[in-house]
Amino acid sequence: MEKSPELNNNQNLNSSLQREKWCGHELLYKFQNFWFPLAYLEATQKVLANFKPVPKDVILASFPKTGTTWLKALLHSIINRSPKQDYNNHPLISNRPHDLIPSLETKLYVDQENDSKKTEFLAVKNPEDVRILATHIPYQILGEVLNSCECKVVYVTRNPKDTLISLWHFVQKSHLFDEDPWELEVAVDQFCNGVVPFGPYYDHVLAYRQEFLKRPQKVFFVTYEEIKENPKHYVRKIGEFLGCPFEGENGEEEIEEIVRFCSFENLSNQEMNKSSELPIDFPMPYNSFFRKGEVGDHINYLEDEMIQKIDAVTKEKFHGSDFVY
Ligand code: A3P
Repeated sequence: MEKSPELNNNQNLNSSLQREKWCGHELLYKFQNFWFPLAYLEATQKVLANFKPVPKDVILASFPKTGTTWLKALLHSIINRSPKQDYNNHPLISNRPHDLIPSLETKLYVDQENDSKKTEFLAVKNPEDVRILATHIPYQILGEVLNSCECKVVYVTRNPKDTLISLWHFVQKSHLFDEDPWELEVAVDQFCNGVVPFGPYYDHVLAYRQEFLKRPQKVFFVTYEEIKENPKHYVRKIGEFLGCPFEGENGEEEIEEIVRFCSFENLSNQEMNKSSELPIDFPMPYNSFFRKGEVGDHINYLEDEMIQKIDAVTKEKFHGSDFVY
């Protein structure tokens, strides 16, 4: 099959980009000041060229390992709830969160088979239907697309040290790195320098944060830790933000059910999510998206010096913003 001129152009362009070894044999490519594995870079370029959001879309944006899976489950449950929701037959029992809410650059625009399913996902059949789509693409790159219509964006972030430790564990689940494991010391350096997929983390967070401060009706910004501490409050807030508030005498009960159903304990115990099978299009097993689900787990892995190093970068990068970790 002939390649499109757009793909050929991107491939030429990408071969001249700065690249760095990440872990194993994986290289990361620097595109518009962010680092991408090649497949996700090409997919990101396709997203930029072809993805047209519509006003009813809800885009879940996040840096990897900050709670994307949890938010996928929460958003799906909030948006698609019905008054007498049967949680024994919930779509998240027979589907994984990543199957119900696919990511633009890691699923929908990646060159792979099953294109009819992708086309179906992206089709806007009824302008009143809500599509929920996810992305790790930084706001600096995707902002223009996101602002091309009145769609809503929900951004989740997480403490940088917990994000790194979650990523470090995640990477170890991949057989791709068996022969050349990602040493924690190296991981800390690369995270601090921003050379991790979709990094730098700090620039990623700050741009979505700024957009939220500028347009709170368009972007909802929340942290993993905030939801952990008060999940009911944030489920209510997200419902309000998305224009599907919890009202009436059943509102509180609905919120409680969603919080319980989407909890780490419940979701990680669903058969679909427990599977150690490898998806056809991803090098990590299905269960790798559920590890511990706790706040502060970095303390069990990072040495004092590593903590000081990350804290210093966090202070430097977030200094001057209203956002503190
Ligand atoms: P840990 O590795 O710290 O356990 P992402 O979905 O962005 O890849 O993030 C994965 C992290 O979110 C993992 O963190 C995972 O365990 C945690 N997680 C997944 N589902 C969760 C849930 N329902 N509630 C809380 N945390 C969850």
